[in-house]
Amino acid sequence: MSAWRFVHVTDIHLGSPRSYRFNPAYGENWATAAGQIRALAPDLVLVGGDITRDGNLNGYEFAGSRAALDALGIPWHCIPGNMDTGNKHADRQGARPDRDDVACNVTQAQLDVYTAAIGPLTWSFVHRDVRFSGCYEAIAGTALPSAHALDAWLDGLAALPRASRHVMLNHYPLFTDTPADPPRDLADAGQYLDWYFSIDPGPRRRLIDAYRRAGVTHVLSGHIHCRRPPLTFDGITYCFGAATAFTQWPQRWPDGDATLGFQVFTVTPQGINCAFEPLARVSTRTDGRGPGGHPRPADRHA
Ligand SMILES: [Fe+2]
Repeated sequence: MSAWRFVHVTDIHLGSPRSYRFNPAYGENWATAAGQIRALAPDLVLVGGDITRDGNLNGYEFAGSRAALDALGIPWHCIPGNMDTGNKHADRQGARPDRDDVACNVTQAQLDVYTAAIGPLTWSFVHRDVRFSGCYEAIAGTALPSAHALDAWLDGLAALPRASRHVMLNHYPLFTDTPADPPRDLADAGQYLDWYFSIDPGPRRRLIDAYRRAGVTHVLSGHIHCRRPPLTFDGITYCFGAATAFTQWPQRWPDGDATLGFQVFTVTPQGINCAFEPLARVSTRTDGRGPGGHPRPADRHA
């Protein structure tokens, strides 16, 4: 088997000038990334969610994101991110006064908009003896119909034909430090971001157990917009990926690096190697408009 490549790109946040906030710099960064990806000519591209700026509010944003991905001319496979659909569920208001966490909870209607515009919430296929699977793991453990479908999909994953490796695409990282991370209290300002940027222990355990039964070897995530060197726990390698649009949380880990770019994976008979590809040029446009984060409705005016 000769060496071949696939790319993991995430958090491209293209958005639309029709929306209450919009940053053309994110589109310029995507154009730069797309040129670099085309030049690498990977077999396929894994798109790790947050393909829109506010797809959870403005379903029309998906058409532009889909066109941008199609223009790669390379097969791509996508899962939703929290800005495409909605956030992992909060059971109460968190410590941030600038957002309403419960109102940000992902709904079935938002998931249905994504599915109609982009495709299924779960998928799995084999390419050149590597199994690739993807799911929006943030819904695990909720009462949403799609969460029940995710449960059934997870239960069936182990029965699929095995390949030499199994790569799982997620949006949220499953943890911020280790798979044994304790619950994070969203009402505690000091723990809020660890809560926001990871999956809670109950659904995390469920997901990792299913991944292990299915022979998952690599879990790829986005959401944080800060990459880390791959981490291996109990035989699964977790790859926290960089964003192309903008950076977040660069100070969280000593080995964190919020440089914008994407991940290039090279598959050989010996295994899968992950390399970071920084953007060749970061946009310097300053004509973006609108607030960041998860603005309350009263603040959503450009
Ligand atoms: Fe994002």
